Amino acid sequence: MKNTINIRPSQLLSIEDNFPEEVKFFMPPAQGAGSLTTLESISLIKLLRITKAKRIFEFGTYKGITTRLLLENYPNSYDQEPVIYTLDLPNIEGVEFIASDKEHALTSIKSRRKYIESKNSNLVKQLLTDSKKFDPSPYLNKFQFIFVDANHEVSYVKNDTEKALAMLDKNNPGTIIWHDYKSKDFPELTNYIDSLDIGMNIYHIENTMLAFCLIGVDEKNLKNKK
Ligand SMILES: C[S@@+](CC[C@H](N)C(=O)[O-])C[C@H]1O[C@@H](n2cnc3c(N)ncnc32)[C@H](O)[C@@H]1O
Repeated sequence: MKNTINIRPSQLLSIEDNFPEEVKFFMPPAQGAGSLTTLESISLIKLLRITKAKRIFEFGTYKGITTRLLLENYPNSYDQEPVIYTLDLPNIEGVEFIASDKEHALTSIKSRRKYIESKNSNLVKQLLTDSKKFDPSPYLNKFQFIFVDANHEVSYVKNDTEKALAMLDKNNPGTIIWHDYKSKDFPELTNYIDSLDIGMNIYHIENTMLAFCLIGVDEKNLKNKK
């Protein structure tokens, strides 16, 4: 059964937040396979603002473009501890890939990541391990913003989602976001997200490949599609 609810981008973007109008934006690359679109990037910033997330976890760093986007829009840049954890592969040994994921992983391993250029790069902790070997136990209930965008083969998406749910802070506003929902390359990923029964609504933002759930946030804007 499909549990995912379609929303227009404006339904998310019109949720009130108390942040200044200004955002720091990095235009995603034109040939952006493996990266986010402009609308997806703006949607992530909005989710960051409405959850007021203090701790962020990203499955799949790739070129570090989204890591940089989140870092530059992070509200408490005076923090000295790492606040953004981002995980990627150290090598491709023993990892199963589908579609162009292997190519992206090879690019990722040799790339100088964009967040390194930020003056706040000390706030990012890079984790290098296969997500199936990653132990979430030191991070239970720690993160308010978790972005699942690593390996798109369904057993990895399931693994990353289960770890994301365990790491999501249940006592504060928060979100888990999945990329590549409705991608023609990953139909099993879409079916998996549609079948999730996690006690939270899952929304798909039309004209994007983002699906997300929320905790501790008023969802009335998202329920009234005009
Ligand atoms: C689509 S890219 C991530 C894009 C990035 N989130 C962004 O918005 O720019 C997917 C990344 O997942 C990584 N990856 C693939 N399999 C993985 C695994 N088993 N564990 C951890 N990372 C993995 C790849 O190396 C690649 O960098």
